[in-house]
Amino acid sequence: MEEKEFRQEMQKKVEGIEGILRKYLPEEKGFQKTVLEAMNYSVLAGGKRLRPLLMQETYRLFGGKDKVVEPFMAAIEMIHTYSLVHDDLPAMDDDEYRRGRKTTHAVYGEAMGILAGDGLLNFAFETALKAFSETDSCGAAARALTVLAAKAGVYGMIGGQTADVEAEGLEEVSLERLLFIHAHKTAALIQAAMMVGAILAGAAGEEVARVEKCAYDVGIAFQIQDDILDVTGSLEELGKPVGSDAKNRKQTYVTIKGLEESAKEVDRLSREAADILDGFGGDGEFLKQLVLSLINRRN
Ligand code: IPE
Ligand code: IPE
Ligand code: MG
Ligand code: MG
Ligand code: MG
Repeated sequence: MEEKEFRQEMQKKVEGIEGILRKYLPEEKGFQKTVLEAMNYSVLAGGKRLRPLLMQETYRLFGGKDKVVEPFMAAIEMIHTYSLVHDDLPAMDDDEYRRGRKTTHAVYGEAMGILAGDGLLNFAFETALKAFSETDSCGAAARALTVLAAKAGVYGMIGGQTADVEAEGLEEVSLERLLFIHAHKTAALIQAAMMVGAILAGAAGEEVARVEKCAYDVGIAFQIQDDILDVTGSLEELGKPVGSDAKNRKQTYVTIKGLEESAKEVDRLSREAADILDGFGGDGEFLKQLVLSLINRRN
């Protein structure tokens, strides 16, 4: 697919995802209106919608054609957004911009920032559970939910954020520890996205395992590029502050390996992921191009 065609296709798909998100987000009413507003504020601020996109495309790759994937797509974006809302809190990275606007806690206050994150995490599961009324295959939906829960939790994303916070200010962080952090804080949700897509489409266990490895590569590459952009990007491009890692005295892939090595690693991992996708046959052309496009992403 030509670059221009790919970009147009991508825009169309992202618009579809925006529609799905709006359908599942809560109505802003009642005495808890403030937290509902803060939840919607953070989700509707935009963002690349990479995780729902990866989920949908992986679902398609394995022949999925139903709407059962939609509540899961909304759910993963809610979990991801909650992780960002909490990541930006004063007690964590203490950042003031996200997705091109003031962070949730900067607008609604810290208590509402915490509660909006909690709200989104719980609402994600309330939303994913709606899939059960849209499918005959409750077994697959249950397995997908199990993966989603595990990858978001203390053995997944939260575990990575824990290790990330505890590594702040350390003189030296081993590559092993940094890879644990990246694998968990970032790759875990990308794995959840792609694995859920595969599982819902009825992929075999062995195929899901290969998807997990592919998504690991995508996720590590994605976080290394995030570390690179924290040094080489701009607030205008990223919609979030640059220099956040240095401010918090974080060792990153860039501080350990340097910019050039880091960029090479992004390239290598992304191509490895694309090769795994090639091995599945099926119509994975867009998905492959998406993975490769992340190598040079500037936001
Ligand atoms: C930011 O994720 C946090 C990381 C895991 C690096 P994204 O770069 O996907 O953020 P949005 O969703 O586009 O805002
Ligand atoms: C965050 O990593 C990963 C999350 C689970 C939110 P970063 O702290 O590097 O993400 P950004 O740069 O703030 O988006
Ligand atoms: Mg962080
Ligand atoms: Mg951060
Ligand atoms: Mg970052």
